[in-house]
Amino acid sequence: MKVFEPATIGSITLSNHFIRSATAEGLANRQGFCSMPMSAFMVKLAKGGAGLIITGHIAVSSEGRAGERQLCIWNDHHLPALMDMTRQVHEAGGKIVAQISHAGIFANTSLTGEAAMGPMVRRLSDATICREMTSIDIRNTVKAFANSSRLVKEAGFDGVQIHAAHGYLLSSFLSPHYNTRHDEYGGTAENRSRFLLEVVQAVRASTGSNFPVLVKMNANDFLANGMGIDDMIYAATALETSGISAIELSGGTRESDGMIPARPGSIKPENEGYYKEEARYFKEKIGIPLILVGGFRTLSVAEQFLQDGICDFIAMARPFICEPDLIMRWKNREQNYSSCNSDNLCYLPVQAGKGLYCLTQVRKKNQAPGLNRPTLSGH
Ligand SMILES: Cc1cc2nc3c(=O)[nH]c(=O)nc-3n(C[C@H](O)[C@H](O)[C@H](O)COP(=O)(O)O)c2cc1C
Ligand code: SF4
Repeated sequence: MKVFEPATIGSITLSNHFIRSATAEGLANRQGFCSMPMSAFMVKLAKGGAGLIITGHIAVSSEGRAGERQLCIWNDHHLPALMDMTRQVHEAGGKIVAQISHAGIFANTSLTGEAAMGPMVRRLSDATICREMTSIDIRNTVKAFANSSRLVKEAGFDGVQIHAAHGYLLSSFLSPHYNTRHDEYGGTAENRSRFLLEVVQAVRASTGSNFPVLVKMNANDFLANGMGIDDMIYAATALETSGISAIELSGGTRESDGMIPARPGSIKPENEGYYKEEARYFKEKIGIPLILVGGFRTLSVAEQFLQDGICDFIAMARPFICEPDLIMRWKNREQNYSSCNSDNLCYLPVQAGKGLYCLTQVRKKNQAPGLNRPTLSGH
C-alpha cells in the first residue's frame, strides 16, 4: 500500500506516509522543560511506527504560553533535555519535528501574568482584554520565532513546524474575523499574510536553507467574516515561494462551535478527512507536499486519499493518543481502524495539568466516572 511506502519532506525521509499531528502533551515540567515522561511518550510514538512525529505546540516566548506544563523553547537552558529527547527518538528509529507557537488571543493569562495580545483589542472569554499588537510587538515576535527555531535545530529536531492554524497568533492575523487592522498587517490577503511570511523568512534565515520548515494552517476558520479559501491559497502560494517544505492543512478554532479542530463525535468513514474538498483545491494550486489532518480513522480511507492524490501525507492526533502503536498494528494487519471514538475526553487530563492520555480507555478499564466534560479547546 502507498501509505506504507517511504516518502520525503525536504531533507526528512519518513518510513511511511503517516504523521502524528501536533498534540499538546502537557508533560513538560512546571518551568516548560522537557521531562522524562515527555521523552518516554515520544519514544513510544517512534516505536509505534508513525513516519514522523510533530510535537505539541512549544511556546516561543513567555507571554505566548497556552497552558500548564507546555514545552517552552526560548533560551539555551531549554536545550539539554530536548536534546536528550530527540536523541532517544532517533535511537528508536523515529523522526521528530518541533511545532513552535505563540498562543496570541488564546494565551493563558493566569499563567503568563500578562495581557494577551493579538491583531486587535478584544474582550476575551475570561473577561480580560487582549491588547492590539504594535509594530514593535510584531518585530519582537518575529525575532522570538527565529530564536526558537535556531534552538529547535540545535536541539536535534529534524525540522520545525510553525503553528499558523486554529486561531493562535499567526492564524488570527490571517483571518479577517480577528484581524481588522488598517496598517500593512491588515486588510488585503497580502497584508494579512505578511506577519506569517516575515516569521517564515526569519526562521529560514536562522536555520539555513536545508532545514525543513513546515507550516500548519487553516483551510477555513468557520467564523463570521472569517478566512476564505482564496485567501488561504494566496498565503499558501506565498509560503511555497518562500521555500517552506510542506503545508499541513487543518481548520477551525476553539470559537468555531461544532467545527473546532478536533471535532467531537464518532466519524463515519465517508466523513473522514474533514477538509477533503479544500485539500483538493490546495493540491491544484501548490506543488510542495500537502499533509492533511482531521478525522482520519480508517486505513483504507487513508490509502484512498493518497491514491486519489487529495493529499501527500495523512496526519492524525487523537488516534495516536489511545494507540501510539497504531501504524504498526495497521501494517501488521492486526486491525484496520482506530479505536478512538473522538469524544475529546483526552482534553481533560491536559487541562488539569495531568498530562495527555486517553481518558476513555482508562475509564473503560476502571469503569469509574471521574472528571467532568472538557471545555471546548483547539490547540
Ligand atoms: C488534546 C489535543 C491537543 C491538541 N494540541 C494541538 C497542538 O498543540 N497543536 C496543533 O496544531 N493542534 C493540536 N491539536 C489538534 C490536532 O493536531 C488535530 O488537528 C485535530 O485533533 C484533528 O485531528 P484528529 O481528528 O486526528 O484528532 C490538538 C488536539 C487534541 C485532541
Ligand atoms: S479520550 Fe481517547 S477515545 Fe476519546 S478522543 Fe481522546 S484519544 Fe480518542
